[in-house]
Amino acid sequence: MKSKNVSLIGFMGSGKSTVGRILSKKLGFLFIDLDNIIELSEESVIKDIFDRKDEKYFRDAESRVIRNIYKNKNCVFACGGGVVTRRENMELIKSSSTVVYLEISPDTAFKRLKGTRHRPLLKAGVDKEKISTMIKDRKPLYEENADITFNTDNRSARELSDAIFKKIDQ
Ligand code: S3P
Repeated sequence: MKSKNVSLIGFMGSGKSTVGRILSKKLGFLFIDLDNIIELSEESVIKDIFDRKDEKYFRDAESRVIRNIYKNKNCVFACGGGVVTRRENMELIKSSSTVVYLEISPDTAFKRLKGTRHRPLLKAGVDKEKISTMIKDRKPLYEENADITFNTDNRSARELSDAIFKKIDQ
């Protein structure tokens, strides 16, 4: 394996946390969900961080957590969907990880996110157009930062973790 961490990137609903947890067990690595670390360090859930502060405050907290936590090795990190929007985040992440992009189509994302309540960027309602636009805007960023890409539309978290494991454990 080229590096000592694995970082999962991709749009909301692509399964980064579920896949990451399974993959970490297979690799014998520690699983770290960056959103959870942000919540711990801010002593607040993400939804409240967005409500009480704003997106810029959240992005600053996210970048700060990345600067600190990426000193660790042998971890599988599930990154928040917007981590790619800051180049500085990706420079740090790429320097110590194999970056795996979990790709999801707007249709599947819509189906998976329909009932979501805790995702502040979709709080105005989960509509297909908004999801399509966000995915379209971010797709080039996910692609340019990925070492490996897996489409997640018709695959279970277990299948994906097996496929990622095979690919990176070479
Ligand atoms: C965000 C995705 C969320 C969380 C925050 C912002 C985004 O993480 O970091 O709500 O900008 O796409 P998940 O992708 O784990 O839902």
